[in-house]
Amino acid sequence: MKNKIQFLNLGKHPITNNFLNKKNPKNEYFYNLKLIFHKSSKLVSLAKFVPPKKMFNEKYAHRASASKTMSLAYLNLAESIKTRFKPKSILEIGSNDGVFIKHFKKIKNLGVEPCKNLAKITNKVGIKTYDEFWTNKTAKKIVRQNGKIDVIYSANTISHIHNLNETFKAINYTLSDNGVFILEDPSLVEVLKNKSYDQFYDEHSYVFSISALKNITKGTGLIIFDIEKLKTHGGSNRVYFKKISNKKIRISKVVSENLIKETKLGINNIKIYNKFSKEVRNSKKRLIKIFKNLKKNKEKIIGYGATYKSSTVLNFCNLDNKYIDYFLDTTPTKIGKFTPGTHIPILKYKKIPDDINYAFLGAWNFKDEIFKKEKQYIKRGGKFISHVPSPKII
Ligand code: TYD
Repeated sequence: MKNKIQFLNLGKHPITNNFLNKKNPKNEYFYNLKLIFHKSSKLVSLAKFVPPKKMFNEKYAHRASASKTMSLAYLNLAESIKTRFKPKSILEIGSNDGVFIKHFKKIKNLGVEPCKNLAKITNKVGIKTYDEFWTNKTAKKIVRQNGKIDVIYSANTISHIHNLNETFKAINYTLSDNGVFILEDPSLVEVLKNKSYDQFYDEHSYVFSISALKNITKGTGLIIFDIEKLKTHGGSNRVYFKKISNKKIRISKVVSENLIKETKLGINNIKIYNKFSKEVRNSKKRLIKIFKNLKKNKEKIIGYGATYKSSTVLNFCNLDNKYIDYFLDTTPTKIGKFTPGTHIPILKYKKIPDDINYAFLGAWNFKDEIFKKEKQYIKRGGKFISHVPSPKII
């Protein structure tokens, strides 16, 4: 029987990170975004991966420190790691602009960041950052130069790496005997619940369930011993691993509780993905209807937060500049550019102008932060359009 089952075809998509300098560039790169379920490992992944160098390069636009919510979450996590594990050394895989790793100045703190523009930022402030992809070779170099590492942390990065077996084995190799690996990535359960199909794009090669993580780390030397549920990125898992050889390991009961819950939900069976596929196709129809109705009434619509996620929604639903006048965004590297594939201008964030009554919530994962910030807009009757969990005007 076939091991890989395709359950959703989201059509042609550009590189989400490829914010354009020109409205209609020549030769924009597109790939087919299709989703598959792996029957044996229970992994959910893109059917075909995009070459990493096309996505992670010196033009990489995302700045992890752009959000107050995330900056605070990283600070709190850093404090909790210091108290719980008392590490003498820490390494972050995918250190971005240093928003997390900068909190560990008193111990050996290292970063791995293949986007050279970002690695430069952290190297400049004295955080030794390896500007390369996380591979066996990099792991060996790091251990050779720094010894084994007590805590390895990686948020929203492991799901971007294609070769998971090498990735986890290299982490196991790099960890000290009592070391801890902490992985943080969007939760597949939450994606299915929220129908947030926009968690799938070129970079997100995988969206993990705990069941799949358990299966794919078998044989890598690592074992899950704790899990925390997070609100970030629309619902994420923070998963704690130790070496299976560690005699002192204590496995929290939340691990089996999560596995049981996922099985009961049907996460390990293709049926739930076929249902999700149907829901996503309905979501598309309903979102397009909302935009078309507003346009019929000559409403101006803007976008709020030119997220990578929104690229999936806009390209899947064919919502281009005819529907959305422009996006407002706070990220300097996106401002003045155009959204990939749909070519909508991105303007520097400012107060939402008075002639705008509808804003598509590209950054729905920061809904609370944004609604707090836009109190005035909401007070004057301004509305947001969100496709999560189902398309509606809020
Ligand atoms: P992010 O959450 O990283 O989502 P993705 O990984 O899908 O890109 O991106 C959030 C984007 O939203 C980022 O470009 C900054 C922008 N943003 C604003 O413009 N204003 C805000 O108040 C917030 C919270 C985010």
